[in-house]
Amino acid sequence: MNTKDKILKYLESPDSEYVSGQMLAENLGLSRTAVWKAIADLRKSGAVIEAVTNRGYHLVRTTPKMSQKSLSEALPELDVYYFDEIDSTNNYCKMLASKGERKNALVVSSKQLKGRGRLGRIFESPDGGIYLSFLLNTNKKVEDNMLVTSAASVAICRAIKKVCDIDTQIKWVNDIYYNSKKLCGILSEGVIDMEAGVIGAIIVGIGINFSTPISMFPVELHDTLTSLYEGENDVPQSITQTMIVESVVKELLNIWDNIENDKSFLDEYRKRSCVIGRYVNLFRNNEKQSGLVLGIDDSAHLLVKEDETGKIIELGTGEVTLRLNNDKNN
Ligand code: BTN
Repeated sequence: MNTKDKILKYLESPDSEYVSGQMLAENLGLSRTAVWKAIADLRKSGAVIEAVTNRGYHLVRTTPKMSQKSLSEALPELDVYYFDEIDSTNNYCKMLASKGERKNALVVSSKQLKGRGRLGRIFESPDGGIYLSFLLNTNKKVEDNMLVTSAASVAICRAIKKVCDIDTQIKWVNDIYYNSKKLCGILSEGVIDMEAGVIGAIIVGIGINFSTPISMFPVELHDTLTSLYEGENDVPQSITQTMIVESVVKELLNIWDNIENDKSFLDEYRKRSCVIGRYVNLFRNNEKQSGLVLGIDDSAHLLVKEDETGKIIELGTGEVTLRLNNDKNN
């Protein structure tokens, strides 16, 4: 056990309401400087530790943040790679796949320096979020990778409901919304098996704003983004980032294992959809079109009745924007 863990364990024990630095040093066989440094490190990683003159240290709460240890313990059947920061978890997953990683692997980070979004966009990934990529080695015949993304959307909503008791919506195709603002984005990428000439693995990249103060994002995003909690101190004691990762992975595998025969998760996708019945704008073949969303089919394609022609468009890719006040003429 390292010094930080030893001190945390001591502070967590029921009979150590307040413990002086000297007592910690004596009982754990450490120098006062080592105790002081470890307390500073624990605070840096999110633990709230009070220091009261003449009484000592008091652990107010442990950190909701994830770690290599907590993630590996929660998901022992997976190869888990945790980083405090990384360029992009999807890039790391690609590297693993190119090196022939054949087991399902999970790459998780607390911060990304070059997070990637859809359509070549940047995905802002400050500290406080959960950034994960899941490498799914597959020989399944999933006709359309839209289904994988939709499965991930439903898995994320289920996990957030179970762990945080928060209801979220899905904006086709792959954004999770909370109180009408974007909470989470998904980027799925196929890895081609060059020898067989087929998709050998799928990378599902997920970024969730967990306890990211909105001030951490560029100002132009402040009106459109949200986070589950406003900051670390806002996170309920019983909830940790690891619980979310564990639940997302388990929910996704649950759907994924039967995806060829069981598409019932799409019913929940439709129920949580915030675009069905709404007037939207979309770009298709470089042309702006608008219409009313009628539904989502069993391939997770969007069915839109075009305003001008009345024709039904089946969208398998792209993006739609909701029209202001759901106004047909907006
Ligand atoms: C989007 O909203 O455009 C999709 C965002 C996907 C972001 C996730 S965060 C983890 C993984 N690593 C990345 O670089 N991107 C995905």
